[in-house]
Amino acid sequence: MSATILWGVTGAGDLIQETVGAMDELVRTMELKVTVSLSKAAVQVLKWYKLTHKLNGISDKVYVEKDANTPFIAGPLQVGKYDCLLVAPATANSVAKIVTGIADTLITNAVAQANKTQIPIFILPVDQKGGTTTTILPNGKKIALTMRDVDVENSNRLRRMNGIHTLKTPGEIKEVIENLSSIR
Ligand SMILES: Cc1cc2nc3c(=O)[nH]c(=O)nc-3n(C[C@H](O)[C@H](O)[C@H](O)COP(=O)(O)O)c2cc1C
Repeated sequence: MSATILWGVTGAGDLIQETVGAMDELVRTMELKVTVSLSKAAVQVLKWYKLTHKLNGISDKVYVEKDANTPFIAGPLQVGKYDCLLVAPATANSVAKIVTGIADTLITNAVAQANKTQIPIFILPVDQKGGTTTTILPNGKKIALTMRDVDVENSNRLRRMNGIHTLKTPGEIKEVIENLSSIR
């Protein structure tokens, strides 16, 4: 099966290595055309984690946010140029905006506009479970972070939104992309 997807990356260090790894494997194993859209913060985070080069190997179309409508991805999403919108990883910031209907960044605007159509939307939020989680710092060291209630609650609200499929792990990306034809 072949698919054309729009992959939105936000500025989360948590899950960034795992997500880029999962996408790298996916483009090698299936016929997949990926257009990448980076939030401004994602550009910084990818640099911190030295993943810019790897990301450029996944897609030769990498857009960088100038504002909510530039580059213009919401329109092409709405008219069906892509088979799905994937946002992974999704920061606490972007998730908070999405669940409250704010669309003032490239990625949150893409979600808001795509959500008015039938296009499948998959989002992988970073802060899903309460308690302490271990994340990898840009220098490879690990750090324990305690999730904030507000961020966990926003992920739960995201899960309840119509037209949005919330992913639990980067490993689920493969599954949902492979099953795209059964969703549409
Ligand atoms: C190295 C680095 C790592 C970060 N990791 C996270 C993260 O894991 N989760 C998160 O919610 N924000 C993280 N941030 C903060 C976000 O980038 C920041 O909230 C930004 O405003 C998000 O914008 P965006 O949602 O438009 O990408 C990180 C920032 C930096 C510089």
